[in-house]
Amino acid sequence: MKYITVLVSGSGTNLQRIIDCIENGDIPNAAVNLVVADRECFGLQRAENHGIKNILIKRGKDFSENLGKIIPENTDLIVLAGFLSILNKDFCDNFRGKIINIHPALLPKFGGKGMWGHHVHNAVLASGEKESGATVHFVTSGIDEGEIILQKSFEISETETLESLSEKIHKIEYEIFPEAVNLVLNRV
Ligand code: GAR
Repeated sequence: MKYITVLVSGSGTNLQRIIDCIENGDIPNAAVNLVVADRECFGLQRAENHGIKNILIKRGKDFSENLGKIIPENTDLIVLAGFLSILNKDFCDNFRGKIINIHPALLPKFGGKGMWGHHVHNAVLASGEKESGATVHFVTSGIDEGEIILQKSFEISETETLESLSEKIHKIEYEIFPEAVNLVLNRV
């Protein structure tokens, strides 16, 4: 059995997807051992709904250190599923190769500090890019700079809006995130 700790900051639909894939066998022999949020959010409720241990650690300068103290010993993989705090270098180095993140764009484009959620979608739309997508990558201390595990793209339509873009990206995320989790779990 492999154990996954999931970090969330928002509505947690990607967390839900991972829980569902574990429950339906698409992510086999795995369990979420803990969900951690850095603010009050629906992600915590999703964990609660599935009887998964969950905890809120207030965001701030001691976040990574406090998180490091409560990651369960048996954790094989730490998954950032719409998580907005920046993990410090010590934490990233400690868990190197064991932390993955989903990003709503085709990295290395549209990544870095401040690039999350709708900020990314707005930047993509404003840029006139012809395509967008989602990326799952390893987390290192360089924001959105770790090795790419999976990426999938689609063509941006002429009538694309913030909402339609976000919806298409979420759809892609629900495909590539479980696939990436399986790939990494088979390595660690
Ligand atoms: C996802 O689109 C994810 O890619 C993005 O937050 C959303 C969370 O949605 N993450 C980032 O922007 C990180 N830089 P969810 O809460 O419904 O899973």
